[in-house]
Amino acid sequence: MHSWIQHIDEAAAVIRPHLSGAPKVGIILGTGLATFADQLEPQAVLDCADIPHFPRATALGHRGRFVCGSVSGTPVVAMDGRFHAYEGYSLQQTTLPVRVMKALGAEVMIVSNASGGLNPKLAEGDVVVIADHINLLSSNPLTGINDDRLGPQFPDMSRPYDRALGEQALEIARRENFTAVAGVYVGVCGPCYETRAEYRFLRAIGGDVVGMSTVAEVIVAVHAGLRVLGLSVVTNVCRPDALAPTDGQRVLRAAQAAESKIGRIVRGIVAELDPPAESPAQPGERTTGAL
Ligand code: HPA
Repeated sequence: MHSWIQHIDEAAAVIRPHLSGAPKVGIILGTGLATFADQLEPQAVLDCADIPHFPRATALGHRGRFVCGSVSGTPVVAMDGRFHAYEGYSLQQTTLPVRVMKALGAEVMIVSNASGGLNPKLAEGDVVVIADHINLLSSNPLTGINDDRLGPQFPDMSRPYDRALGEQALEIARRENFTAVAGVYVGVCGPCYETRAEYRFLRAIGGDVVGMSTVAEVIVAVHAGLRVLGLSVVTNVCRPDALAPTDGQRVLRAAQAAESKIGRIVRGIVAELDPPAESPAQPGERTTGAL
């Protein structure tokens, strides 16, 4: 069995000398959303290949760098690119950066991704603030013998995404005058995009957007006790009855076109960061928010 604690410690030990203080926030930048990493006031940029136990980033638009920096004076770390199950990695490997961010001191994790819009109200370039998710990755990153030092064996998932951070993100978008709505993200394994029948199914089970990442990272973040904000950029609309073909380059271009919106939300959130204000999910509460 892997000793994940040992892997986490060894990875964190390589990163720690590059930090000027404990990072408050860990950020994971998805497809086409990488230039935010260049806007951090950087202290150090590490190649993930130089961090023990980190996989190699092989996906289109993912540089595979670990950036130590700050936003408005608040220390942050960011994964410029992420790891995916479709690259052949286990979900434990893809989520190692989350555990390392926690070990370095992060209290909040912000994850971003590109997604297909299942909800017919969504248009290309819209931002979805993830209110909840459905795990269709066909596995779970917490399978295996639980190490209680990392978190509980049966973590609560009644509210994986922090409500206060989500509301703040929506408010920032309103202020900045672009569309952002709350919605449910469905995480699938990929790497294929979906068939028309699959898009129909994903919409029918309650999905607003679908993508190939994020869910495993969020499960591990919740297990670790991190507050989570999830942001998704709709890169293609999925109309099962009139489906246009899509490909990785189109998704990448659409995400890049919307990148500044994610940057503005992340900057605003970090600047306004305040103490946790969590409350349990209310019975019957909708998680599809403004849609
Ligand atoms: N499906 C899955 N993942 C995606 C999509 C999609 O339509 N668009 C961007 N990532």
